[in-house]
Amino acid sequence: AARERVRIVEVGPRDGLQNESAVIPPEVKAELVNRLTKAGMDIIESGSFVSPKWVPQMAGTAEVLKLMNRHHGLHYPVLVPNMKGLELLLDLLSEQSKSDVPYTDEIAVFTAATDAFAKANTNCTVAESLERLSVVAKRARSEGLRVRGYVSVVIDCPYSGKVDPTAVKSVSQALLDMGCYEVSLGDTVGTGNPTTVDRLLRTVIEGSGGIPGSKLAGHFHDTYGMAVANIFTALDHGVRTFDSAVGGLGGCPYSPGATGNVATEDVLYALRGSNYEAPGDLEAIAEVGTWISKMLRRPNASRVGRALEAR
Ligand code: HMG
Ligand code: MG
Repeated sequence: AARERVRIVEVGPRDGLQNESAVIPPEVKAELVNRLTKAGMDIIESGSFVSPKWVPQMAGTAEVLKLMNRHHGLHYPVLVPNMKGLELLLDLLSEQSKSDVPYTDEIAVFTAATDAFAKANTNCTVAESLERLSVVAKRARSEGLRVRGYVSVVIDCPYSGKVDPTAVKSVSQALLDMGCYEVSLGDTVGTGNPTTVDRLLRTVIEGSGGIPGSKLAGHFHDTYGMAVANIFTALDHGVRTFDSAVGGLGGCPYSPGATGNVATEDVLYALRGSNYEAPGDLEAIAEVGTWISKMLRRPNASRVGRALEAR
């Protein structure tokens, strides 16, 4: 039987690099995107138009988009938190001529399942953020951009504890209602396990007002080493899109102690021989993980990457 296709959103250049303490020049960020592209990734989150006062690491995203090689048919989503970010992006896009490959055709808006996290991350409540983002999403769509949504802290919140799955469901629905084509569910802290992820997805997907798995993505940080297991739990629920970061880069600046996303290498290795196929060449991605870990002078956080290095 034909293997079922899984989409992978490579978030290393954004979720990964936003949390590094070293200052990373735009040239290195652009080269990371280029190397990921060569290794077969086709959706690469490439930066953020957020306040540089809040996340200094993502300043210079415009420069990164200009420097990197862009290809028709590939997607390079960028995070946008408010109208100011969208306007900066639209100004940049308006500098291009019609024949250019656009800097990006997709933005990602983000909120959370708890007010405490939304305040720490975006200085407003969840309800306020949804109001703010619906205006952003509407404008972005009218400019021809695709809009993806994120919900943070879907399992545990670093500030307010256990999260109610029904809160995740209603925030996800609000993001879909404002025009997001997909909502990525973020286990920001990385404390989820197959049982809590199963409970979450039962609530979000099943029953009245259930959101189909095809409209959801899984975004699992690997703090407790559960991310791959959580992905397979989500596959059982019909989710077919997952976010991952080469070399397991990153964390979240507003989630103290949380480590990076599940490593792209680990996801690709776990899918080998399964009924699912994903873009990206494992060995080539692992080489990118080795390269960026060296550039950042940090140990390679991908177990699969380290095993392949040792061969
Ligand atoms: P605020 O301080 O309430 O906003 O922050 P403000 O409107 O008062 O602006 C403050 C200053 O920032 C002003 O500058 C603005 O001009 C400027 P000043 O007048 O003081 O010189 N500013 C901007 N500059 C550039 N681009 C912008 C922008 N907006 C304002 N877009 C705000 C509110 C939302 C702006 C802020 O909280 C923010 O930028 N937050 C982003 C935080 C962030 O990026 N977090 C990480 C990404 S989310 C994540 O990692 C989770 C995820 O991976 C899923 C998961 O794992 O859960 C997606
Ligand atoms: Mg994240």
